[in-house]
Amino acid sequence: MSSANQVRSGDLVLLYLTARKRWLVRAIEGEKLHTHRGIVDFNDVIGANYGSTVSTTLSEKLWIMMPSIRDLLMKSERPTQVVYPKDLGAIAAFSGLGPGKRVVEAGAGSGVLTAFMANLVRPNGRIYSFEIRPEFFSVAERNLKKMDLLEYVTLKNVDLQEGLDVTEADIAVLDLGDPWNYVQVMRGCLVAGGMLVSICPTMNQVEKLVEKLEEELFIDIESMEIMLRGLAARTGMTRPNMRMVGHTAYLTFARKTIDPNKG
Ligand SMILES: C[S@@+](CC[C@H](N)C(=O)[O-])C[C@H]1O[C@@H](n2cnc3c(N)ncnc32)[C@H](O)[C@@H]1O
Repeated sequence: MSSANQVRSGDLVLLYLTARKRWLVRAIEGEKLHTHRGIVDFNDVIGANYGSTVSTTLSEKLWIMMPSIRDLLMKSERPTQVVYPKDLGAIAAFSGLGPGKRVVEAGAGSGVLTAFMANLVRPNGRIYSFEIRPEFFSVAERNLKKMDLLEYVTLKNVDLQEGLDVTEADIAVLDLGDPWNYVQVMRGCLVAGGMLVSICPTMNQVEKLVEKLEEELFIDIESMEIMLRGLAARTGMTRPNMRMVGHTAYLTFARKTIDPNKG
């Protein structure tokens, strides 16, 4: 009998050698993974406990780990700019993302943020995500499918300019170059009191967005940049990493109020 901590055929597993050498793969009975450190037979992985090791044909030992959402996101196809984990965490905390939430999003891009949100709102919540470019729409669909998250997402290949058929969303997310042009559309999708989140790479975008948010009677507008500095932790000589990510994006959060004239 297999326990929850044992790999089952079809599971996505992380095979870990070092921080830089790791493989995210589906363990399928009878199949093999070819690496420069030797071949892994998935029959040796299936039934093994997570946290144990499997040997390659070159006697290299790889740790068998359950992939975290971060592993899944960072191993996905990324032809567009994507939202990185340091910003994802803040988006979740500041917007109140969680089980059961209805979220409307554009553009889907590679679907990285979409997947992160789908993982948080499941099983009863839903993400409605829109992407104008067919090639990115296909990537987002593939990524979500690979992460077993597509069932929580309604993904459409449409231009946001055409308007959206989503109402009563708790959270609206804009990750595209001209978010100020879509504040009104998103306003129409949100419940009163709902939260709008926007991701902008430059400050002039933030300024234009905030002007529009004020015009559209959003309140509690907060813009921020999240800094992350890793540590090289070693006994007696712990210090910050020599390298850090200089910039990803600025985040803006705002709450929708009821317009006494329009609702
Ligand atoms: C920076 S990417 C989004 C990345 C995404 N958040 C992720 O983490 O993978 C911006 C996307 O917005 C899409 N986009 C731009 N204008 C759009 C519009 N009017 N309607 C729908 N999608 C649009 C672009 O094609 C692009 O794929």
